Amino acid sequence: MNPSLHLTVTALCCLVVVLGGLPFSSDAQLDPSFYKTSCPNVHSIVREVLRNVSKTDPRILASFIRLHFHDCFVQGCDASILLNDTSTIVSEQGAFPNNNSIRGLDVVNRIKTAVENACPNTVSCADILALSAEISSVLANGPDWKVPLGRRDSLTANQSLANANLPGPSSNLTTLKSFFSRQGLNTTDLVALSGAHTIGRGQCQFFVNRLYNFSNTGNPDPTLNTTYLQTLQALCPNGGPGTTLANLDLTTPNTFDSKYYSNLQVQKGLFQSDQELFSTSGSDTVAIVNSFNNNQTLFFEKFKASMIKMGNIGVLTGAQGEIRKQCNFVNGASVGLDSMVTRESSQDGVSSY
Ligand code: HEM
Ligand SMILES: *[C@@H]1O[C@H](CO)[C@@H](O)[C@H](O)[C@H]1NC(C)=O
Ligand SMILES: *[C@@H]1O[C@H](CO)[C@@H](O)[C@H](O)[C@H]1NC(C)=O
Ligand SMILES: *[C@@H]1O[C@H](CO)[C@@H](O)[C@H](O)[C@H]1NC(C)=O
Ligand SMILES: *[C@@H]1O[C@H](CO)[C@@H](O)[C@H](O)[C@H]1NC(C)=O
Ligand SMILES: *[C@@H]1O[C@H](CO)[C@@H](O)[C@H](O)[C@H]1NC(C)=O
Ligand SMILES: *[C@@H]1O[C@H](CO)[C@@H](O)[C@H](O)[C@H]1NC(C)=O
Ligand SMILES: *[C@@H]1O[C@H](CO)[C@@H](O)[C@H](O)[C@H]1NC(C)=O
Ligand SMILES: *[C@@H]1O[C@H](CO)[C@@H](O)[C@H](O)[C@H]1NC(C)=O
Ligand SMILES: *[C@@H]1O[C@H](CO)[C@@H](O)[C@H](O)[C@H]1NC(C)=O
Repeated sequence: MNPSLHLTVTALCCLVVVLGGLPFSSDAQLDPSFYKTSCPNVHSIVREVLRNVSKTDPRILASFIRLHFHDCFVQGCDASILLNDTSTIVSEQGAFPNNNSIRGLDVVNRIKTAVENACPNTVSCADILALSAEISSVLANGPDWKVPLGRRDSLTANQSLANANLPGPSSNLTTLKSFFSRQGLNTTDLVALSGAHTIGRGQCQFFVNRLYNFSNTGNPDPTLNTTYLQTLQALCPNGGPGTTLANLDLTTPNTFDSKYYSNLQVQKGLFQSDQELFSTSGSDTVAIVNSFNNNQTLFFEKFKASMIKMGNIGVLTGAQGEIRKQCNFVNGASVGLDSMVTRESSQDGVSSY
């Protein structure tokens, strides 16, 4: 072959490869420097509020990571979870996975007020949730990453979609994989993001079936470590209050580390959905759990990548949606006498909880 022609062909190939690798997909729309000129201090403003609150309420960091997850899995990361009931909105806060379970909505509003004072009408509530998740990770000693920004806030919420899309604590591995896959997240993402259960708490009602009557067998979950079973039975008596809290990570409950995975290796995952990642025989997730336990740097790297991937789900950008002034309501919403629609009509969503 003529050498110069060969060069041209090689160059063309490279060009195709390079172009093919460029992020022309939806995630190209967000940018970590989105507020660089319009609100340069947004990160430190959000951080300051979270740091203050976490001094007296360390759990708030976990609650904020979960808020971002529960936002993103329901019509995308658009702050739809923050919209309250009104005459036109049936709040996602009333969905089974959220009701009496999500926390921190008052703190979101404190953050929003602080951000509005510095940069009015500029920063979306959806971006506040994404930034808060990263900041919470860092404040709990976990990884940091550059959060892609520029999300806009939804004009709608969807309670039945929240019931349909958020996996429940008794989900098996097949169900977990399919719920994540529907959001464009693969098995590595599932195992990495489940690692967020290295901090935070869970209520007895979400695992009590494993302690006394697993899958209606009349016996405890055989995959639960017997010493851990006794600890949890003492904490959550059969028929006792469902709201008592257990640490999701019994080893280091407030520190973001890879102990979640070593707990799974000794059958000490709190929820069935946690333990499934390790005890489903022959599953590809076992090797991933082992690798994250062996190498916390690897876990942190994958967690960051998966959080960025999750943060890109269904985002509104450009002229879509709006920048809400108050995170609980769309702009111009009447929140007066005609608010508070009855929720009867929205109870048809099948609960996986
Ligand atoms: C894989 C499927 C998942 C299931 C079935 C699940 C389920 C749950 C449940 C039932 C709770 C306890 C809620 C309560 O007791 O009120 C919880 C807490 C939590 N979840 Fe998940 N979760 C999953 C994935 C995730 C993901 C992907 C993240 C974030 C990336 C996450 C972050 C958290 C955090 C940080 C908490 C503690 C919240 C707090 O203490 O306020 N979870 N999860
Ligand atoms: C944090 O707390 C300190 C002391 O209580 C207070 O002076 C400061 O204004 C608070 N900052 C924010 C952002 O809440
Ligand atoms: C929104 O609803 C939550 C309960 O889900 C409530 O605590 C909060 O006060 C409401 N926010 C506003 C501004 O009404
Ligand atoms: C949320 O829980 C409360 C009980 O704490 C209940 O009264 C209410 O009906 C629940 N909301 C929905 C939408 O199910
Ligand atoms: C809400 O989600 C359901 C799926 O659970 C879908 O059928 C419905 O069209 C959605 N409603 C709105 C208003 O987007
Ligand atoms: C997983 O759970 C789903 C939904 O509850 C069920 O249909 C399916 O049979 C279960 N799969 C396995 C392997 O247990
Ligand atoms: C999951 O997706 C990431 C890219 O987002 C990719 O690097 C990784 O290889 C995928 N893992 C699996 C198990 O498919
Ligand atoms: C376990 O649950 C099933 C279904 O709810 C029930 O029929 C059975 O009596 C329970 N067994 C025990 C020992 O509680
Ligand atoms: C149960 O936990 C103990 C440590 O408390 C551990 O030595 C043992 O191997 C665990 N059992 C199983 C089946 O993993
Ligand atoms: C741990 O994972 C990191 C990130 O992938 C890698 O660079 C490093 O070589 C791994 N360390 C070991 C001991 O395998």
